[in-house]
Amino acid sequence: MTQSPTAGGTAPPPKKRVSILISGRGSNMVALAEAARAPGYPAEIAAVISNRPEAAGLNWAADHGICAIALDHKQFATRTAFEARLHSILMNLGTELICCAGFMRMLTGGFIDRWRDKQLNIHPSLLPAFPGLDTHQRAIDAGVKVAGCTVHFMRLEMDTGPIVGQAAVPVLSSDTAEDLAARVLAAEHHLYPAALALIASGKAVVEAEKVVIREEVNLAPALYSPMLG
Ligand code: GRF
Repeated sequence: MTQSPTAGGTAPPPKKRVSILISGRGSNMVALAEAARAPGYPAEIAAVISNRPEAAGLNWAADHGICAIALDHKQFATRTAFEARLHSILMNLGTELICCAGFMRMLTGGFIDRWRDKQLNIHPSLLPAFPGLDTHQRAIDAGVKVAGCTVHFMRLEMDTGPIVGQAAVPVLSSDTAEDLAARVLAAEHHLYPAALALIASGKAVVEAEKVVIREEVNLAPALYSPMLG
């Protein structure tokens, strides 16, 4: 994609083309798509792809002029056949980065390796704590006082990989799993667009299996849970 030079003579860097993989509601996809509408955002949404044709997020994407693709995994005989088709769609779209956002299909090592350091995921816990399913109830059962969410690059083992960013929220004694999920989800919607911007702009890079953030600022106060009296 070419961009014309600005008045100052320097062209803004081209936006990274991002495809978002979903399986359902798609609220993180909406957060990413809305962030990407800002002129200065370093990524643009190439497409939203769901392995479940009935995913509500697909309708939202189509209604908002975003290329929405249903790729039903049940139509493929094998996991690798599904992934081969997904890969070719992603390549045809000019995808440079993938954001998994509630994408509930396990990916094989072949696919993960092809998109190494180009595929992000969001998980609703402070990894490496509570990987996998049912994270909020497990956090409550463990009695932790702080929970949160993590954006990370994907590796073969589920919910592992270099961490781009995390957001923490308090856990209250009265919380149900649904209460905690809602508090974490609100944080997810801020964290994921910010983390994608760091990667798409090149301000954060993977080095030796850790994400290094350039020009880091430390202005955030500590989160105390419970609040200090
Ligand atoms: C989010 O909690 C995300 O962290 C997890 O699945 C959920 C997807 O929600 N991976 P949504 O589809 O983005 O609303």
